[in-house]
Amino acid sequence: MPREGPEIGYSVIKIEGVKRTFVVGDVKVEALRGDDLIVRAGEFIAIMGRSGSGKSTLMKIMGCLDRPTSGHYFLEGVDVAGLKESDLAAVRSERLGFVFQSFNLLARAHQRHRECRPTALLRGLGAVGPHRANRAGA
Ligand SMILES: Nc1ncnc2c1ncn2[C@@H]1O[C@H](COP(=O)(O)OP(=O)(O)OP(=O)(O)O)[C@@H](O)[C@H]1O
Ligand SMILES: [Mg+2]
Repeated sequence: MPREGPEIGYSVIKIEGVKRTFVVGDVKVEALRGDDLIVRAGEFIAIMGRSGSGKSTLMKIMGCLDRPTSGHYFLEGVDVAGLKESDLAAVRSERLGFVFQSFNLLARAHQRHRECRPTALLRGLGAVGPHRANRAGA
């Protein structure tokens, strides 16, 4: 039976006063300076801006690949700051989908290894080589 989605109008993504500062040597780069954003169920949005304006930084935070320096990010009502790394891995695996600008493929990995690896990591199985992936029939 298909999983019921959240009702239209529900805030799937809510970002409040999010800042992200990178420290590079003596220099502080304020990639995000207290941004707010709400994305409701059923909405399709595009984030646009000049190069260096913080689009990728925001996407990484929304994708739970990075954490804000300050501010709050609620994903489906849950404050992501309170999640431990294993919970974040589950969120990334089960609740989010990403199409990266670059392919981010594992060097020298077999195709089935690439597909099985995230699941294996999530389940704490450790390394899954091509042989094991083949046996799994993936
Ligand atoms: N890991 C990092 N360390 C230091 N500075 C960073 C890091 N990531 C991003 N920045 C800086 O933060 C700012 C925002 O970068 P970001 O990559 O988010 O911009 P963008 O809007 O995605 O740009 P583009 O359109 O070129 O992809 C830039 O000044 C960038 O140099
Ligand atoms: Mg970018």
